[in-house]
Amino acid sequence: MSKFDLIVTNGKVVTAADISTCCIGIKDGKIRALAESFTTDEVEGARVIDAEGAYVMPGGIDAHVHLSQDLKTGPHALGGECADNFETGSKSAAAGGTTTIITFATQTRAEEDRSLINVITAYNARAEATGSYVDYGFHIIIVRNDTDVLEKEMPILMNEWGVSSCKLFLTYETQRMTDSQLLDVMFAAKKNSMTTMIHAENGDMIQWLTDKLEKKGMVAPYYHALSRPPLVEGEATNRAIALAQLIQNPILFVHVGSALGARNVRKAQTMGLPVYAETCPQYFHLTWEDLKRFHSPTCFENSKMICSPPPPPDASDQEELFVGLENGTFTIYSSDHCPFRYDDPRGKPAGVLEDAASMEGEHHCTGDELQSLLKRKQGSFRLIPNGIPGVETRLPLLYTGALSTGRITPQKFVELTSTNPAKLYGLYPRKGAIMPGSDADLVIWHPEDSFKGFDLTNSMLHHNADYTPYEGMNFSNWPRYTILRGKVIWADGEIQGKPRDGQYLKRGPSKLVRGAAKVTQDPRRVATWLYE
Ligand code: URP
Ligand code: ZN
Ligand code: ZN
Ligand code: ZN
Repeated sequence: MSKFDLIVTNGKVVTAADISTCCIGIKDGKIRALAESFTTDEVEGARVIDAEGAYVMPGGIDAHVHLSQDLKTGPHALGGECADNFETGSKSAAAGGTTTIITFATQTRAEEDRSLINVITAYNARAEATGSYVDYGFHIIIVRNDTDVLEKEMPILMNEWGVSSCKLFLTYETQRMTDSQLLDVMFAAKKNSMTTMIHAENGDMIQWLTDKLEKKGMVAPYYHALSRPPLVEGEATNRAIALAQLIQNPILFVHVGSALGARNVRKAQTMGLPVYAETCPQYFHLTWEDLKRFHSPTCFENSKMICSPPPPPDASDQEELFVGLENGTFTIYSSDHCPFRYDDPRGKPAGVLEDAASMEGEHHCTGDELQSLLKRKQGSFRLIPNGIPGVETRLPLLYTGALSTGRITPQKFVELTSTNPAKLYGLYPRKGAIMPGSDADLVIWHPEDSFKGFDLTNSMLHHNADYTPYEGMNFSNWPRYTILRGKVIWADGEIQGKPRDGQYLKRGPSKLVRGAAKVTQDPRRVATWLYE
């Protein structure tokens, strides 16, 4: 019997704390030993991967991925048909160095979705139908405040399903809740130690601005951004912080995209409040200008860049967001992979024709074509499904934009992309760590001195979306090997894993989220009596 199945040598092994030049010994899917070197006897019978001096990091954990999600929830919601199922989305994750994804099971307001257990059970069946190339867990999106259901089912979600996080919305007609409804769900989450994720955009501001823009005929994709200026996120983050503070519930803001949102988070953190934040690649690599990128400002093809919150107005916001990555304002960096195809009438073109099924052939609209659609009142940014693909490009974009440029250290890279998501979502130290006993999930990059970088095209990617927002962009590095529990699932540009390699992850409560800080909390001003 060999001591190890796999040994990784000659790498710069990076954790959230350190960089060392050690060898990693792997057996039965677990990391068993870290050592300066192994003896000939120890190496005997093991496969050896020579990292050739490249960075070796814990496999990426992407805690914000939409796969096989029913998004057909109508105007003011996401709309559209999710382009990736668990098979294609997880393959794409593997090719981009990610070994764990957390995806969203969505409650709707339909009566059969009252039960959150039903929602999770049905969603789980979608994952099981295809299998996954990487390990996966679920968040639950809650859109109703049925307190009887929350009381009965949250403990089951936490303890039996290991679903230890929920997402709540302040926008999208079919998902948003009023402040009192938000308080109901946050209160239940607090009592059950479930981590509360918040989509912070002010739905009323968006609707009001959208109506005004439409009246002026400003309906091209670009105007999606003008319907959601940074104040929309600014107001919603402040309001959600106040609601959470009132009942002492820790919160995490997902996909923070504006400097104003980041400043509000930072202020709350400085007050000692347990407020956390996620940001995503699109907020560092796209701006409002990219919503005018194709052909002409009115070209419908610009719908490919629509996501909510939108990218920030310009590079000045991005500078502040980079500071937030570096100084701890942002706890995690996820993709918000939410793929829609451009050649599928149920994808991005669903924004042009409400009866999208009748749309045939070529979906590229010139300015003139779009204008004629609009005259027939058939198109508006309001109807375009929100979301862009990015699970595969997440780590390489952070490498290219922040690690290669010296904006963040390799340790910070690991903290944001793997260790903190593992701690935040109850997977640590099984995931997000390189230490004996942890799952042998690794990403090995190309050695920096020999890899020259390349220009990305969508054909290189493994998702089922028919475009990438980063077409033509130069990447300084890319994962050379992705290893899931000791199995090489991606090597030198080839998928080596199988759709049944991934396992469902029952998650525990957060190891990062702490309770409310006592110092700033006067019990008369915040409702601590609720818990007496
Ligand atoms: O536009 C986005 N972000 N689509 C994904 C859904 C969400 O709100 O996360
Ligand atoms: Zn969201
Ligand atoms: Zn999302
Ligand atoms: Zn065009």
